[in-house]
Amino acid sequence: MIDRAPAATLVIFGATGDLTRRLIAPALVHLMRDGLLDDGFKILGVAREMGDDAMLCDSLEKFLRENGTLEEEGDQHGWSALRHRISYRSGDFANPALFSALTAELNGAVIFYLATAPSFFGPLVDALGDAGLLDEADGFRRIAVEKPFGTDLASACALNARLLGRAAETQIFRVDHFLGKETVQNIMVARFGNALTGAVWNNRHIDHVQITVAETVAVGSRGAFYDATGALRDMVANHLFQLLAMVAMEPPNRFDAETIRDEKARVLKAVHPVRPEDTVRGRYAAGEAGGQPVVDYRAEQNVAADSRTETFVAAKVAIDTFRWAGVPFYLRTGKALAARDSEIVIRFRDVPAAPFEGIEGERPANELVIQIQPREGLHLGIVVKRPGPTLTTASVALDFCYAEAFGLGRPTGYETLIYDLLIGDQTLFQRADMVEACWTAVAPLIEAWRQGEPEDYAAGTTGPAGSGALMARDGRTWRAIA
Ligand code: BG6
Repeated sequence: MIDRAPAATLVIFGATGDLTRRLIAPALVHLMRDGLLDDGFKILGVAREMGDDAMLCDSLEKFLRENGTLEEEGDQHGWSALRHRISYRSGDFANPALFSALTAELNGAVIFYLATAPSFFGPLVDALGDAGLLDEADGFRRIAVEKPFGTDLASACALNARLLGRAAETQIFRVDHFLGKETVQNIMVARFGNALTGAVWNNRHIDHVQITVAETVAVGSRGAFYDATGALRDMVANHLFQLLAMVAMEPPNRFDAETIRDEKARVLKAVHPVRPEDTVRGRYAAGEAGGQPVVDYRAEQNVAADSRTETFVAAKVAIDTFRWAGVPFYLRTGKALAARDSEIVIRFRDVPAAPFEGIEGERPANELVIQIQPREGLHLGIVVKRPGPTLTTASVALDFCYAEAFGLGRPTGYETLIYDLLIGDQTLFQRADMVEACWTAVAPLIEAWRQGEPEDYAAGTTGPAGSGALMARDGRTWRAIA
């Protein structure tokens, strides 16, 4: 039985924007449906658009209906109950009058969710601080801030310093939505809750690790943001490194936020700065992905015709710890690829060949696949004897699928994060030092990629040829994107 989260007001800056309607609102509907929000839970949306409470509620409802969030009866009840708790204030984030009004209106526990463009993060937190809104005298005051946290090490350090000048680290919740995904949280339990995995999780038994986040979507309407960002900053320096930290961290002594974040920070700080020669950057060219025609990246709306931004990255990463010395982590992510497929592959070392000499059959090394999306689960590839009078071997899979075992519904991943924000559990949020460690690791690439061009790949494929070559150089292959 999960407890209801405590009463609080959720102030969403950017309440009419994409993040609010696509992810935050559906998650709140699900939390309401499941009875996890207190009777004193309220939402105050803030944005520049003129309008009143009904404007925000109607536009959210329209979006939720069109996107299938309200198909089930439970979700409709959830929304009806939530709708009455929503109010709206139109205002200019640069106008101090907005914050004076908020000061008069707000009391008790408050969460300020910055669902805005990153350029507002610093100014908004300054304004909240100036207005005394971060003072915790009559209840907690928390700030939720979405990635990107800076665009390189220097800007991330500056942003962290600015936020920490106004609020304590315990008040700042840096959201990396990958950490809300069910299978990502399961990595820790699968690793540390099972003697079997714990025993082999090291460089004596593991040959290498692959982390793939493949998307079929192209940049769509996000050209302006994406062209200034690229796959390295958008995905690698945060989502992929978070997955790496989950796989590579040492066992925490306790499952509490600080102990877990200490261990994650420790391993992120042990990642070698990635060498440009161990990477490949790609850019999609025209083709078809996810059943949709895709134009050349440089012909996308709001993308510069002479853009050098990468839409694909593959990188070999080394971690300098006793556990991982000599075990490469290969990371890969890209847009407009052959399939939507996010997974972590733990490839174990080969068994000694002698007993099987002269014996026919498949004998790939064991492989544990942690499937993050779209089909959340675990898959263990093992070798067995093929039935019959002669001894031949076959490769089969032991499979666990989350949806089949537990019925997952359609969580957005934000349910857990918002619930944790309300109860004040920072386990799944990034701490300042973790963010800075990630930027430190990719700093050589940011520098090197000021020059040169990404390698083209046709949309709908598995990325540029260089990606396969990066593995082939080490005598290895990527697991197929499927
Ligand atoms: C976001 C990136 O953080 O994550 C997007 O900015 C990306 O470019 C998205 O598409 C992927 O998240 P998900 O949950 O859809 O896999």
